[in-house]
Amino acid sequence: MSPTKKVVNPVVSLDVTRDVAITAAKTAPARATAIGIAVGETGAVPRELGIDRRVLAAEGFEGKLGQALVLPRKQGASIVAVGIGGAGLDEAGLRNAAAAFARAAGRHRHLATNLADAAGVAPATSAQAVVEGVLLARYRYRTFKTGIEPVADLTLTASGARLNGVKAGAERARFTAGATKLSRDLANAPHNHMTATGMAQIATAIGKETGLKVEVFNKAALVKLGCGGLLGVNQGSSEPPAMIKLTYAPRGGGRNAGKLTFVGKGIMYDSGGIALKPGDDSHAQMKNDMSGAGAILASMATLRALGCKSQVTGYLMCTDNMPSGTAMALGDVITMRGGKTVEVINTDAEGRLVMADALVLATEEPVDAIVDIATLTGACMRALGRRHAGVLGNNQSLVDQILAAGNATDELAWQFPLERSYRPQIDSNIADLKNMAGPLAGQTTAALFLEEFVAGKPWAHIDIAGTAWADGDSSWLTAGCTGYGARLLIDLALNFTRPKR
Ligand code: BES
Ligand code: ZN
Ligand code: MN
Repeated sequence: MSPTKKVVNPVVSLDVTRDVAITAAKTAPARATAIGIAVGETGAVPRELGIDRRVLAAEGFEGKLGQALVLPRKQGASIVAVGIGGAGLDEAGLRNAAAAFARAAGRHRHLATNLADAAGVAPATSAQAVVEGVLLARYRYRTFKTGIEPVADLTLTASGARLNGVKAGAERARFTAGATKLSRDLANAPHNHMTATGMAQIATAIGKETGLKVEVFNKAALVKLGCGGLLGVNQGSSEPPAMIKLTYAPRGGGRNAGKLTFVGKGIMYDSGGIALKPGDDSHAQMKNDMSGAGAILASMATLRALGCKSQVTGYLMCTDNMPSGTAMALGDVITMRGGKTVEVINTDAEGRLVMADALVLATEEPVDAIVDIATLTGACMRALGRRHAGVLGNNQSLVDQILAAGNATDELAWQFPLERSYRPQIDSNIADLKNMAGPLAGQTTAALFLEEFVAGKPWAHIDIAGTAWADGDSSWLTAGCTGYGARLLIDLALNFTRPKR
């Protein structure tokens, strides 16, 4: 690693309990300084509030989802009225309510709430959603900014009948919220503090902590493997590339376990290469062009703790994309793993190049499904905005599993058609393929390029160019890198079934 590149905090941890103590109890502890009390739009106002609906309404609080009102007291903890809406409260609603509580109580570090006791949602599910909502709303990237105090402790209060379920859900949330935090920390790390080598060091440490096998393939190993896509993109950089292979094997994993492979785009910074991006602000976001790789590392780090039954392999394809005298030129032809040649007509369409090598490697091992995740196209972001990721694939049953995981975690996804009549747009006159198509439906033509490398295996692609970034704080999202995908991939792996053909 060059002296100007320094990885601060090389060991980023999955464990949120290093910062925050999470407990469940029948009543709020004496140390709590803010207590969130669920209030619906109708029915009696809980007596803990000490005021009635009329007084609340005068302050603009009607019990709607997303509303939270702090009621300071003469002494003791502040009470926070937290809206849970009318009928039909679900997991996503609870996560939003918990986030609203955490934001309203933003000056408080010792929190308690009865939100997980709200009827309608199973105790474990609701506890998980509430912990996620509180911790993710209060997430900040703290490495370089002092004076931001994290939540110190959070107590979920619940009645006797629900308490055990609430405890179990809170325990799971340590890992799910921890994964999103880790995914955000990795993506928020600026380019001068996070290199491909640094990513490999972090993956190695996290693998040790969480029971994953971690193999790092350096430049020489990549040359041996013929990974011309990753090497080609790396060519202009003063930093070496790294392909990081993660393997999760369930304990006593039966022969029947499903086999799932994740492939992640790990562009540590995307300058565009020789096809340099223009200098507008949005390109300061390009430090997060490794969000797909980060989400995979973070999700896989939870699989043992959460008891995943499937075998999961992850390929993180890491390098930056830089212009220099040694960089790829426009029109260069490179040879990918497996021998297909690609004419590089735009060095800014680099993500598909690094992914292609890993897709081929994934097909060389027994696998039931391949899922890739990448901040791949501006086209996807323009079409869907920041709320939904794009999904495309060659197998509807796999795509459906991804859409379901998105709904379950509120990391939403939306399917685009994999329109094969556009495929001739990536034909090249001098190579097997070229890396860019015409101006329309860029998310689809990028996916058609990737499909060329999956050898007909069940495969789906998640384009997170829009969802990896939040323009501001809202609900459980914090401005900056969102960590999108970590929780979706966990849910996908835990519920994975072999896709029907
Ligand atoms: N990393 C970008 C995609 C991106 C753009 C992510 C905006 C997040 C926000 C990707 O490498 C890229 O540059 N894509 C090009 C592809 C084009 C040259 C075919 C794009 O979308 O403009
Ligand atoms: Zn990129
Ligand atoms: Mn690019």
